[in-house]
Amino acid sequence: MRIDVMTLFPDFIAQAAAVGVVGRAQERGLLSLHGWNPRDYATGGYRRVDDRPFGGGPGMVMLLEPLRACLEAVRAADPVPAPVIYMSPQGAPLTQKKVRELAALPRMILLCGRYEGVDERFLEAEVDEELSIGDYVLSGGELAAAVVIDAVGRLQEGALNDAESAIQDSFEGDGLLDCPHYTQPSSHPLGDVPAVLRSGDHAAIARWRRQQALGRTWLRRPDLLDEAGLSKADRLLLEAYRAALAGRDGAG
Ligand code: ADE
Repeated sequence: MRIDVMTLFPDFIAQAAAVGVVGRAQERGLLSLHGWNPRDYATGGYRRVDDRPFGGGPGMVMLLEPLRACLEAVRAADPVPAPVIYMSPQGAPLTQKKVRELAALPRMILLCGRYEGVDERFLEAEVDEELSIGDYVLSGGELAAAVVIDAVGRLQEGALNDAESAIQDSFEGDGLLDCPHYTQPSSHPLGDVPAVLRSGDHAAIARWRRQQALGRTWLRRPDLLDEAGLSKADRLLLEAYRAALAGRDGAG
């Protein structure tokens, strides 16, 4: 997959995507990331990319001409069509479902805003969709773009060493949160690893993990349970989880 990022801080994007799974995906040629700075397409001695808003008010607005020229260069660099996605707190919430859709595209173009925003005429003419990573305001779209690149990059075929691990993630497959994980040492002053995980009984381990995933989702994100389509067996596991929790809390 190819990702083009229009940003005043292309180095930030490059560095954020250079490490870990996504860095490896780039090394393996599964993901090609290209930063584009609108400032390089600004004219005039100062290479201005922003100006004061019409109507007054605080802050600056990104000029549409450098963005237009930049986007033209981005499109000219590769004939593969790509949606333009503007990172904005006003966008649709980013979900794992959306991440999967984006990951299946051959290419996308991410636009990062700075200052108070981008001239609305550019957004209306050129942007296909807006995405938000949460109900809070960042000082620019770069961190949000890095989030999208990471979430999409790790889903590229061959990026993860163990293809299973993507399926077992929170939200993947069954729409539940992930179960807890443990490694060495099995015994420690902070607590012992649950005995079932050391039992070698694979059916019991799978059941325990499913129950933990159900229980955690119920405790932390009950809204997700409605969507998850639980089976009869799931409901029984969850009931037992709740009963065990009530018993433990009751015992104080
Ligand atoms: N830019 C500023 N805040 C943002 C957010 N919450 N999500 C996406 N882009 C943003």
